[in-house]
Amino acid sequence: MKKILVTRKLLRSCEDKALKSFDANLNLNDELYSQKKLIEMSEGKDGILSSLTDKLDAETINKLPETIKIISNFAVGFGNIDLEAAKTRGIAVTNTPDVLTDATAEIGILLILGACRRASEGIESAKECNWKWSADYLIGKQLTGARLGVLGMGRIGQKIAKIAKSLGMIIHYHNRSKLSEEKEQGAVYHDNLKSLLSVSDVLSICCPASKETIDMINKETIEYLPKGAVVTNVARGDIVEDEALIDALERRKVYAVGLDVYKNEPNLNPGYLKYKSAFILPHLGSATKETRTAMANLAIDNIDEFFKTGDCKNKVN
Ligand code: DGY
Repeated sequence: MKKILVTRKLLRSCEDKALKSFDANLNLNDELYSQKKLIEMSEGKDGILSSLTDKLDAETINKLPETIKIISNFAVGFGNIDLEAAKTRGIAVTNTPDVLTDATAEIGILLILGACRRASEGIESAKECNWKWSADYLIGKQLTGARLGVLGMGRIGQKIAKIAKSLGMIIHYHNRSKLSEEKEQGAVYHDNLKSLLSVSDVLSICCPASKETIDMINKETIEYLPKGAVVTNVARGDIVEDEALIDALERRKVYAVGLDVYKNEPNLNPGYLKYKSAFILPHLGSATKETRTAMANLAIDNIDEFFKTGDCKNKVN
């Protein structure tokens, strides 16, 4: 039986599955392993079932024991892993696409609604019982008729676009390449970021974090947005230069933000906390029982497939 290290606590049924499939070292207390501890715990193991909280940079990967042949990430994103370093070491890296599309898109829509309709302020006032209804009380931005710019029209972006369209939004998107008409569903393609941002009353960041997308939303590119745009991010914090976005909130260039992901989680830039127009969530994208179960099961199946066939359809390096 192959030996694997599971770095974070999984839902019970998934831990049972891991124990049936492998000689699995579980993390029942859900301790956050340091890089040093993760390397030590990997001793004698054939694979690692990692999570987005494990920083598997080149230095850490280079210190992993020779026996490690696969890192199966319990996430669709894999910005926490240095893919090149893993490849050089002959370690396969896999992710969990598809199964979290719906849950993450739901949070993407919640961010748009929460930011546009001033949910943070509303919740605060409702709890304090200090509000008085009036014709202009907490007036927000209506989604119907507004233009949604989807940055990264992958599975999650497409699902967000579909729901947003049903809410009456007009969909624009930017991707490396234009999608088929069937996938576009009437959305307008922009072959460059500037063109997309200039029509985005609401921006939904859905692209993966990579060398090309890190800090893509920055001091310069924020200026391409219409004045009073709303910026939401359901993908990765690394794509946004926080200082620039916070400054744009201060200047009211940006009306509101809706964020589920941050650089350096959980220590988000405290600058956001000063703004009632910041609707912020603690990385809830895939947080439903159905989805977390499907993700963990897929992460386990990826390891199984890899050891049975020498390859895996969800290999990303
Ligand atoms: C992912 O899988 O990348 C999600 O962000 C996890 O919640």
